[in-house]
Amino acid sequence: MAAILVTGGAGYVGSHACKALAAAGFQPVVFDNLSTGHRWAVRWGPLERGELSDIEALRRVMRRYRVEAVLHFAAVSNVGESMKEPALYFRNNVGGTLNLLEAMTDCGVGRLVLSSTCASYGLPEALPIDESHPQRPINPYGETKLAIERMLHWWERVHDLRWLALRYFNAAGADPEGEIGEAHSPETHLIPLAMQAALGLRPHIDVFGSDYPTPDGTAVRDYIHVSDLAEAHRAGLDHLLRGGASLACNLGTGHGHSVAQVLRSIEAISGRPLPIRHAPRRAGDPPQLVAEPHLAQEVFGWQPRQSDLATIVSTAWSWHAALAETEGAAPSSRYRLQRHLIRGAASY
Ligand SMILES: NC(=O)c1ccc[n+]([C@@H]2O[C@H](COP(=O)([O-])OP(=O)(O)OC[C@H]3O[C@@H](n4cnc5c(N)ncnc54)[C@H](O)[C@@H]3O)[C@@H](O)[C@H]2O)c1
Repeated sequence: MAAILVTGGAGYVGSHACKALAAAGFQPVVFDNLSTGHRWAVRWGPLERGELSDIEALRRVMRRYRVEAVLHFAAVSNVGESMKEPALYFRNNVGGTLNLLEAMTDCGVGRLVLSSTCASYGLPEALPIDESHPQRPINPYGETKLAIERMLHWWERVHDLRWLALRYFNAAGADPEGEIGEAHSPETHLIPLAMQAALGLRPHIDVFGSDYPTPDGTAVRDYIHVSDLAEAHRAGLDHLLRGGASLACNLGTGHGHSVAQVLRSIEAISGRPLPIRHAPRRAGDPPQLVAEPHLAQEVFGWQPRQSDLATIVSTAWSWHAALAETEGAAPSSRYRLQRHLIRGAASY
C-alpha cells in the first residue's frame, strides 16, 4: 500500500482527503501539530504529531513510512489573523513549506499536492476567475500561498519536483456519512457560524454588507463540498503518480451563491429561523468570487458531484446538529468539543 504523507491531515479538508485516500487503497500518514486540527479526525491511518518547523521529524516520518508523495494541507489560514500577525503566516506557511520541500528532496520524494487558495488572486478583475487571472493577494495569508506556489515552480526547475497547486474557493459541507466535519476554533466561515446560530449556540449570524452590486445585495461566493475537494486530491495525486505534468488549477463549481441564499437554505433545511444581524461590509471583501472550474476536469478528470447548495447545507447541518444533540445527556467528547469551539470563537 503506497504511503502518502498528509500534512495537516487532522484538519477539516485534510481529514476528508485521508478518508478518500484510504478508500482508494493508499495509506494516509498524518503529520500534524494539532494546533487547529483534532486527534478524533485522524481515523484512516497513523498520526505522527509533529511541526513543519522540525525538518528532522519530517525526514524521519518520510523514511519510516517510505512516503511516495505528499498532500500538503498544513497552514494557518485565517485572513483576519494574517492582517494582525503576518510573521506567524510567513513563518508557518512559507518557512514550514521550505522545510517540507527540503526534507522531500533529501528523502527522494518527488510529488506534492498543495492546498492553495482563491485568496492568491486578490480582487477579481474579471469573472469567473480562471487560472490566468493575475495573482495580486490583498492579505498576508494569500501572499504566503502565492509564495509557496512560486517555490514549487523553482523546485521543479532545480529538483524535478512534480506538483499541483489546487486553488480552492469556499470549502463547505461535511462527510455525507457523518464521520467528520468542520470544527474550527475560532470559526470564521459562514455556514458553520449560521448553524451554530440556528442551534442557539450563538446569539445571531452577522451578514456583512447588504448593498453589494449583486442580485440581492449580499456577497456571492463559490461553495465547494469538502468531499469534492478530497476527491480532487485523490484524482490529482493519481495524475502525478502516472507521470502527469505540474499544474495550478481552481477547485470550484463555476456557480455563485449569495449569503442571503445560503442563509435561506439553512433555514429551510434546519427548519429553524435564523437570528440575522446586518452589519457593514468588511474591508477587502469583494462582491463576488466565482471560479472558472474546467481545467481540473480537462487535465485530471475531476468535477464536483456533491457541491449543490442543498447537499452542502444538509451534510453540514447533520454534522453540526449531531454535535449539539448530546446537550442535556452526559457530556460527550463531541459536545465538549462544540462548547470549546464556541468559547474559542467568543474569545477571538
Ligand atoms: N477551508 C477553506 O475554505 C480553504 C479555502 C482555501 C484554501 N484552504 C487551505 O486548505 C488547507 C486546509 O484548510 P482547513 O480549512 O482544513 O484548515 P485546518 O486549520 O482545519 O487544517 C490545517 C491543519 O494543519 C495543521 N497545522 C498547521 N500548522 C502546522 C504546522 N506548522 N505543523 C504541523 N501541522 C500544522 C493544523 O493543526 C490543522 O490540522 C490550508 O492550507 C488552507 O490554507 C482552505
